[in-house]
Amino acid sequence: MNRKVNARLSGLYKHSVSERVEVVCQAASVSDETRQYLRNGGGLEPAVADAMSENVIASFGLPMSIATNFVVNGREYLVPMVVEEPSVVAAASNAARMVRGCGGFEGAATECVMTAQVQLDDVPNTDAALARIVSEKTAILAIGDASIPAMVARGGGCRDLEVRVLDAALGVLVVDLFVAVGDAMGANMVDTVAEAIAPTIHELVGGVMGLRILSNLPIRRMVTTRCTVSDEALGGRALAEGIARASRFASLDPYRAVTHNKGLMNGLDAAAVALGQDWRSIEAGAHAYASITGKYLPLSTWSRVEGGLVGTCTMPLAVGTVGGSTRSSAGVRAAFALLQVDGARELATVLSSVGLASNLAALRALAGDGIQKGHMQLHKRKETAIAQSIAASHGGGQPAALHDSRLEDRQ
Ligand code: MEV
Repeated sequence: MNRKVNARLSGLYKHSVSERVEVVCQAASVSDETRQYLRNGGGLEPAVADAMSENVIASFGLPMSIATNFVVNGREYLVPMVVEEPSVVAAASNAARMVRGCGGFEGAATECVMTAQVQLDDVPNTDAALARIVSEKTAILAIGDASIPAMVARGGGCRDLEVRVLDAALGVLVVDLFVAVGDAMGANMVDTVAEAIAPTIHELVGGVMGLRILSNLPIRRMVTTRCTVSDEALGGRALAEGIARASRFASLDPYRAVTHNKGLMNGLDAAAVALGQDWRSIEAGAHAYASITGKYLPLSTWSRVEGGLVGTCTMPLAVGTVGGSTRSSAGVRAAFALLQVDGARELATVLSSVGLASNLAALRALAGDGIQKGHMQLHKRKETAIAQSIAASHGGGQPAALHDSRLEDRQ
C-alpha cells in the first residue's frame, strides 16, 4: 500500500468537527469518497442498515473519532475509534504521543490461524480413538482443504490438528483443527471446515457427533506488542514507578487484573468497532486467554528499565481486513481508508498497540492524580454539552465544546 500518513496532529480537539474532517483527510491523503462521507457527517444508509441485520427500524449513532500520534513498527497511523465513553480517544492519543517520542510501538502477529472444533461424545475407547484420528491427520486436513479451495489457492488452508480427551469415562473428545484464513477473520471459513471434516472423524471413531464450530480462543493467532517510555515522557520517576507497581498489583490480583484489562480493551475495542470487527469475539478471546493458566492475569505488563518503563502485551486477536463486515458500510470503509493497513497481521499489531496505549494512559492517571479528576470533568462537560444540544434542537443556544482540559496541550 502506498501510504502517506501524518499522525502527529497536535491540537486536533481545538477544531470544529468540520475543520477536523479536513485536517484528518489531508493528513491521511484519503480519496474523495471518504472525504465526502465524513463531510456529510457519517452515518449508515437505511438500505445498508436493513441488509446488515433483521427487523431493522432505524440506525443507532455513536461518535466516530480519530486517535492521533500512533507510530507502530516505524509507520504512522491515524486510528479511527467508535466509543461512547469520554476520554478513551484523548487518553490513547496522549499515551501514543509519549511513546512516539521514545521510538513508538513495535510488534508482530503470527500467521492468521483460526481454530475449528469438532466434538464427539460416547466414543468407546478414547485413547484408541485419539491415536486413530492422529494417524489419519493428513487425510483429514485434505478433506478440510477441499471445503475451502479458494483459500487454499491463496496460500491458506488446514495446517494442523490436535485431539484432546476431555472425559475418558464419558467418551468426550474434541478435535481442534488449525486453519490459515489469510486476511479474513475467518469464522465462516472454519465453521465450513469443521462441518466438512466431522463425518470422517465420526466414521473413524464412532460415538455421537456433537458441535462443529470455531473456538473464540484462537490460540495460534497471537499478537505481541512492546514499547518503552522514558520517565521524562511519563512526567517523572514517581509516575513510572507507580505504573510498574500498578502492573504488579494486576499480576497478583484477578479483581484488579480484570479492570487493568478493561482499560486496555477500551481503545482496542473502540478501534475494532470502527473497523467493523467482531468485537464480541475479540473480547471473549482476550479474557479467556487472560485466564488460560488457571489464574486470571493481565494481558499487559509494565516493568522498570533504566530511566523508564517497558510495556508488553500478548494476546490472541482474530481481526480481518477482508470479508465479514469489513466493507459492508461506508463508515467502515472510511475507517480503513484512514487507518491504511496492508493486511490482518498489521491490523492486529496496530490494534494491540492501541490497547497498550489505553492501558498506559489509564495506569498513568491512576498512579498520579487518580482517574476521577479528568474523567469527571469530561463527564460533566459531556452532560452539559448534551443538555445544551437538546435545548438547541428545541430552539436554544449552541452546544458546548467537549474536551479534557488536562489533556489540552498534550494530545
Ligand atoms: C475505565 O474505563 C478504565 C480504567 O478503570 C482502567 C484501569 O483501571 O486500569 C480506568
